[in-house]
Amino acid sequence: MAVTSIWPEASAVDERGEVTFHGHTAQSLVREFGSPLYVVDTDEIRTRARRFVRAAAEAFAHTTTHVSFAAKSFISKEVLRLVTGEGMFVDTCTMGEMRIALGAGVPGRRLVLHGNNKSDAEIELAVREGFAKIVVDSPDEPARIAAIAHRLGKRAKVMLRVTVGIHAGGHEYISTAHEDQKFGVGLLSAGVDPSVIDVIDRLIDHHGGHGGQSDGEADGRPDGDVGSAPRYRMRYPYDLDRSAVDEDQHRLIAAMTAVSQGPALGVLRAILALKPDLELVGIHSHIGSQIHDAGAFIEAAKRMMLLRRTCYDATAYMLPEVDLGGGFSVAYTDDEDAMDVGRELARLAAVVTDANTALGMPEPNISFEPGRWIVAPAGVTLYTVGTVKHVALPAGTLDRAGRPLAQRVYVSVDGGMSDNIRPALYDAEYTARLANRAGSETSMTARVVGMHCESGDILVHECPLPADLRRGDVLAIPVTGAYGRTMASNYNQALIPAVVGVGEAGAM
Ligand SMILES: Cc1ncc(COP(=O)(O)O)c(C=O)c1O
Repeated sequence: MAVTSIWPEASAVDERGEVTFHGHTAQSLVREFGSPLYVVDTDEIRTRARRFVRAAAEAFAHTTTHVSFAAKSFISKEVLRLVTGEGMFVDTCTMGEMRIALGAGVPGRRLVLHGNNKSDAEIELAVREGFAKIVVDSPDEPARIAAIAHRLGKRAKVMLRVTVGIHAGGHEYISTAHEDQKFGVGLLSAGVDPSVIDVIDRLIDHHGGHGGQSDGEADGRPDGDVGSAPRYRMRYPYDLDRSAVDEDQHRLIAAMTAVSQGPALGVLRAILALKPDLELVGIHSHIGSQIHDAGAFIEAAKRMMLLRRTCYDATAYMLPEVDLGGGFSVAYTDDEDAMDVGRELARLAAVVTDANTALGMPEPNISFEPGRWIVAPAGVTLYTVGTVKHVALPAGTLDRAGRPLAQRVYVSVDGGMSDNIRPALYDAEYTARLANRAGSETSMTARVVGMHCESGDILVHECPLPADLRRGDVLAIPVTGAYGRTMASNYNQALIPAVVGVGEAGAM
């Protein structure tokens, strides 16, 4: 049984109180591979990749899904082989990530290229290798990609990243028409009131929700069954006047008009105009990270479906795929929630079906790009404890929960912000545990800090640790599999720790 639910499933605490991974003690791993050490449970990654791919396929059983692993969260050839072995594609953002993925044997047709500032060399490699999608991030990119594809005598598959005006994750999501950020192309022009596009719920209500049943009011639709023969209320074009077009249709037209005048549709048109060199495979949105439920994805999906309908009306081109990005949350501490992907993807799928029924559109292929959800809980970082310092605090100091705190115990370890920048960068929360012995029953409130020359070099803001913690102990911080190693630096000329993969097959 796992140490707690946030630790890898094959972690445990043995009879001596030592933390083990697939039977390897934390102490033995540190002895063999050095400290600090990134421990990555490869079986856990495989299981989580399989669970996500399956959850998406089951939720969207009536359409095609594919899931790309966001390699920015963790990258190594072995991990890419594991996730692609479970049917995942790989999302890359730089030449380095592309080269590692290709070097791992992932074929171009399973690769995605993102980036708000792609170099010509990156685009050329993606076109040469026949990437599944090159995600266009700005209006000048289609022409650049087309020129490169033309020169190479290839046709590049492209998708457009759209900023839909929904932000989610660390903060409450807010809606703005025109976003002040570097990624993607806006759905609406600056200054347009975003409420004009919020029509999908009304349309879904009109259509009777999941299953898309008509209430029989629309022209030419069944008006209820009489025996086995449905009755139709027929109208002819010359019967139609403005009053015959209902309120919802007026709103839909207003919404589509706003979208059709927005930057995103302009770029989609530009891509279509470059048809000999570019194949438009879909639209993409990524709304944030650490998202706990489907709510914000649902809002984004509704806007994306509206864009797809507008694109169809404006250009007669049916966008085959809608990629809803990554951002699925994990629990970093025992009292946080993780996203239940099975349940939330099912909620999302129901709305995608309803929205497309209400819009009179066939469902697109749906894709996702999780990173953190796949790898974060598979990683644990091991450190060796150095200085343990008790610091008396000024009267009135409160702990993170708002309780008075007289002293703080600073536990310094041999790594820090160079191997995990997230607490310093985002104030991210982690917890820690003594990993080489049981420790005393009595505990102290500790702050785990690194060895770098920054007072913000904090790994765990506050957590209970045994009061007898001492120099030489091994400390383990769980849920460090995502954005630790890939964001690591050599600050203070520290070396980036080794990564050891543990699994049923052993440690490597
Ligand atoms: C475009 C895109 N897709 C996917 C991801 C992965 O996000 P996460 O690791 O939160 O799932 C990111 C992360 O920043 C991203 O920018």
